[in-house]
Amino acid sequence: MAAYRIEERVPGELPAGEVELAAAFRRTIDLERAPDEPAAPLDVYRTRITHISADTVRRVWIALDGDGGLAGVGFAELPQADNPHLALIFAEVRRDARRHRLGSALVARAAAAVRADGRTLAMSFVDDRIAAGISFARAVGLEVGSKMHLNEVVLVQVDRARLHNLLDDARSKSADYEVELIPRPTPEALLADVCVAYDQMNNAPRDRLGWQDERATPERIRERDALHRKQGRVRSLLVARRLSDRQIAGFTELTYLSEMPQIVQQHGTAVHPAHRGSSLGMRLKATNLLWVLDNVAGANLIRTGNADSNEAMLRINEALGFRPAFAAFILQAPVDAVVARASSLETADGRAVDAA
Ligand SMILES: CC(C)(COP(=O)(O)OP(=O)(O)OC[C@H]1O[C@@H](n2cnc3c(N)ncnc32)[C@H](O)[C@@H]1OP(=O)(O)O)[C@@H](O)C(=O)NCCC(=O)NCCS
Repeated sequence: MAAYRIEERVPGELPAGEVELAAAFRRTIDLERAPDEPAAPLDVYRTRITHISADTVRRVWIALDGDGGLAGVGFAELPQADNPHLALIFAEVRRDARRHRLGSALVARAAAAVRADGRTLAMSFVDDRIAAGISFARAVGLEVGSKMHLNEVVLVQVDRARLHNLLDDARSKSADYEVELIPRPTPEALLADVCVAYDQMNNAPRDRLGWQDERATPERIRERDALHRKQGRVRSLLVARRLSDRQIAGFTELTYLSEMPQIVQQHGTAVHPAHRGSSLGMRLKATNLLWVLDNVAGANLIRTGNADSNEAMLRINEALGFRPAFAAFILQAPVDAVVARASSLETADGRAVDAA
């Protein structure tokens, strides 16, 4: 008899007990990934599990062991507005349940389901803090589409005098622009500007990824604001405007959980191609870095993910003191290939699961 049973769940209808199990499970995996780091409070995991963006369909499979314990979770996210060809697929398996082809079985379920939903390209994301991730992803047919690093700046190591010099220099080169803090919730009158700012991320290098443009909308911004409020996430979103015509030229954004300020997350930074070459990227990021140093008590580091090919961003980050902390990979493959590889692994030696 198979050791594990896989069942699909409707994400919006998870019973409270399963939300608790899933939140604890996912937190344990994050602690395994980063044993020396504080983990986010359980409530943040509960919110991640129960909140489903209005333009994403999420599908979830759980693997139960003989005692009804949660041994693994697989999920797929299907963007509804942009990237209608794409599905993001993930699997996480409890440590003691690994190498029983359970991860393969979960990916096989997810890939078959998204294929039935018409998706043709599967994508996933792993980092090298759990070594199994990249080997597993390759075993189920995914290939590296973009190599990245998570880069960090350790705040006690920041040389403030140097930072002020960098900022002064960037300000003088970008004297035709001003930098403005966008409050949260994003004021209705500024939503269109913030959309223009976020849309600049479509100019970031994508390497070989079959990822298409994603358009920001006022609804998405309102929804993200609401999610962040629920999670207790503080944000500093800066936009750069040209003084002469008030045009949005670029942005940078960072956030942190108020209950876990140790790790500040740097999100997107982009400058519109027509406004490049005036040190706006440096000015925006240096302003935010200084803001963290002066205002976020308890912050230890700022972390950001960058494609290794993104020279312009890496040059700014390096000057600000960011250094590589660990490697990460965005993977992709035709959904057909993932279905074939994951299903053949799952059935190859009959190790794992009930075909429930
Ligand atoms: C990655 C993960 C889901 C794998 O789950 P799993 O149930 O152990 O995977 P499987 O047993 O189905 O492995 C299938 C194949 O992947 C490869 N693989 C899996 N773990 C591996 C490891 N630690 N080292 C080398 N290869 C590995 C092997 O080829 C394996 O087949 P084999 O056991 O016959 O050699 C699990 O380690 C995990 O939860 N890691 C943390 C989360 C994560 O990184 N998820 C990946 C996101 S898609």
